[in-house]
Amino acid sequence: MRCLKWSRSDAVWFTEIDDEHKEIFEALGGLQKAVSGPDAPDIRKAVEHLAASVAGHFAHEERLMRAARYPSLAWHKRQHQAAQKRVELFAQRLEQGDGSGAAELVEYLTGWLHGHTRVADRMMGAFLRNRLRCIGKLTFRAGTKPANAIDWVDTRGENMDPLATTTGL
Ligand SMILES: [Fe+2]
Ligand SMILES: [Fe+2]
Repeated sequence: MRCLKWSRSDAVWFTEIDDEHKEIFEALGGLQKAVSGPDAPDIRKAVEHLAASVAGHFAHEERLMRAARYPSLAWHKRQHQAAQKRVELFAQRLEQGDGSGAAELVEYLTGWLHGHTRVADRMMGAFLRNRLRCIGKLTFRAGTKPANAIDWVDTRGENMDPLATTTGL
């Protein structure tokens, strides 16, 4: 069994993303716990929580990448889609009364998350941090929850488009 905990070796060094990764690891731990228990409703609840955490997190990262004009967005998004598909397929099977793949899902997603975080998300984190450094005086205002909008704002708090400037991007 792979390690179900977030550790510093998973860090992307982008606080809101790291916080969401911790949440996903916790949701995976919750599913693993539910799998070893006797109640099917617990598994359903844990899968719903996991699916919501994963979907929200992916949408958040993709919004950040889009806002920053990240060049590898499509490649990164394809990786998200592959993992999300696995979660959705399992949720469908569970709806039909088949919860037998829960342990495999936990194993797969834990491995996927460690791998994706340490390569793709780290590349994204470096790009986002660099964007911030290049713009310097700007603040990258991104909600920690996916529902919140992401804006580039200047020091007066006014929205702006980073590509509309010539500040060394
Ligand atoms: Fe990602
Ligand atoms: Fe991520």
